[in-house]
Amino acid sequence: MNPTTPTMLDTAFKKDVFKGLTSFPKYLYSKYIYDARGDKLFQDIMDLPEYYLTNSEFEILDSHTFDIAKLFKGNDDGFDLIELGAGDGKKTKVLLRYFSENDFNFVYKPIDISQNAIDTLTNALAEELPKVTVDPEKGMYFEVLKRIKQYNERKKVLMVLGSNIGNLLHPQAIDFLSQLKGTMNPGDLLFMGFDQKKNPQTILDAYNDPTGVTAAFNKNLLHRINRELDGNFNPDLFKHWEVYDPETGTAKSYLVATQAMQVRIEALDLTVDFDAWETIHTEISQKYDDKVVTWLANESGLEIETSFSDAKGYYKNYVFRRKEYH
Ligand code: AVJ
Repeated sequence: MNPTTPTMLDTAFKKDVFKGLTSFPKYLYSKYIYDARGDKLFQDIMDLPEYYLTNSEFEILDSHTFDIAKLFKGNDDGFDLIELGAGDGKKTKVLLRYFSENDFNFVYKPIDISQNAIDTLTNALAEELPKVTVDPEKGMYFEVLKRIKQYNERKKVLMVLGSNIGNLLHPQAIDFLSQLKGTMNPGDLLFMGFDQKKNPQTILDAYNDPTGVTAAFNKNLLHRINRELDGNFNPDLFKHWEVYDPETGTAKSYLVATQAMQVRIEALDLTVDFDAWETIHTEISQKYDDKVVTWLANESGLEIETSFSDAKGYYKNYVFRRKEYH
């Protein structure tokens, strides 16, 4: 059968894998790393001593709880806290505990693509913070954003932690921020984490752990293709390689073929040729500074109200509002 037969490319995953592995240079989208196994590997990454992002953001939420809470609460009575990509909620619980103990009038709306993550989080919160009203939703950011638009009765606080925006190139980040802005009314807030530029070695170490967890995380793309698309990748023949450009602030991950080979992907009726040392680009993890975040905000119709940093200045959480035109 002709590999481009449209009926074979009947899911976004199939289409994207076909496109990525028949392009030059080859690439695969990092969003496909996150199946059940990928979620687990990312949990392991967050426990790595080298992966400073999680601890830095936790420190920010833990040490600036009072000021963050004051901003979220504002003058009004009540708000909806909508978290995109809530995951296990470990960091968010710091805020939720404070809100709960101080009898804030709010609803917590965690949104995640993984039903498993949503269920685990909802059960944990019922147990640990029973006073908090939780209204979870499973779905992809953009689908759910459309529905969020209808939340107009009271103040909204949108929250995206973990520097998840770092997986997007700047034009895509502007698109994402613009869409978020499109759901916001004048009093609403966007609270978002941005990993900062820092010693390039610290960044390389965070994406190049000696135990190989990050390598396994990237290689999960190959395992997933093998499992779901009947592929025969040998992940051992690929080497995970990380580069960081301190000028642009872009960390890029690759899987490099250590020898020439052919890989067969039955569900796509596709044979992929690799030369020795040919690459598959798998992920970008963008690093930021105030200038770049100010520019992104401005391009998206947002403005920075304030920001919070950890003591080392590794990471920042910014608070944005809609830019008002006078
Ligand atoms: C979840 C996208 C923020 O880029 O730092 C961790 C994913 N990749 N180690 C990041 C990731 C390799 C992570 N984000």
